[in-house]
Amino acid sequence: MDAYAQMEATLSEEMTLREDQQEIELESAATASMQVSRRTFLSGLGATGLIVGAGPLTAAAAIPEMNGGASSSHTVLMVNGEQHDLGVLDTRVTLLDALRERLYLTGTKKGCDHGQCGACTVHVDGRRVNSCLTLAVMTAGKEVTTIEGLGIPARMHPMQAAFVEHDGYQCGYCTSGQIMSAVALLKEPVGESDAEVKEGMAGNICRCGAYPNIVAAFQQVRGQMKMNG
Ligand code: FES
Ligand code: FES
Repeated sequence: MDAYAQMEATLSEEMTLREDQQEIELESAATASMQVSRRTFLSGLGATGLIVGAGPLTAAAAIPEMNGGASSSHTVLMVNGEQHDLGVLDTRVTLLDALRERLYLTGTKKGCDHGQCGACTVHVDGRRVNSCLTLAVMTAGKEVTTIEGLGIPARMHPMQAAFVEHDGYQCGYCTSGQIMSAVALLKEPVGESDAEVKEGMAGNICRCGAYPNIVAAFQQVRGQMKMNG
């Protein structure tokens, strides 16, 4: 090999080495970057992880901050003639959840939780409302009545007795809402026909299809009321 060829071979070898070195350096830089990113990520996650891991109280305290500063309010409800102090309550708690989860009045059912089925119907100052669409704090100072406050097995409300008599239910899941709605409907301007009663009860869905029996129960109670003046 002449001198020129030898020099060319040496140069070529050096260029190859530089490319390898560059690759190694690029890999090292990428790895370092990933390590930094991972470290940064973990340190950022650490604060959140601590909040989540610290238990329900801390997590709950963090929620208002994450939801744009939701507020709480000292809430006292009057339910079935009794006063209930719920303490400091998140203002987003629905009446349905307050009744079921705080006062353990589980006769009121949660069906859709979106105001579409009527299973959660209760009375507020004598008028029927979907408790899943009503905030508990909105009912402070008002009289709330649930199925438990309407009657007991030994002393049923006439509407409860009529539902039993006419088999106004099958699985029973919608029944407390149906009865609360029917009792409120007695005081509303509703026509005489079955079709008009059905229309008045349209907000209460019965998946078992007990509608004819529910209407019959309503008509019986309304008839009794008329007879009794
Ligand atoms: S649970 Fe309230 S309307 Fe369905
Ligand atoms: S009785 Fe079953 S949904 Fe009405």
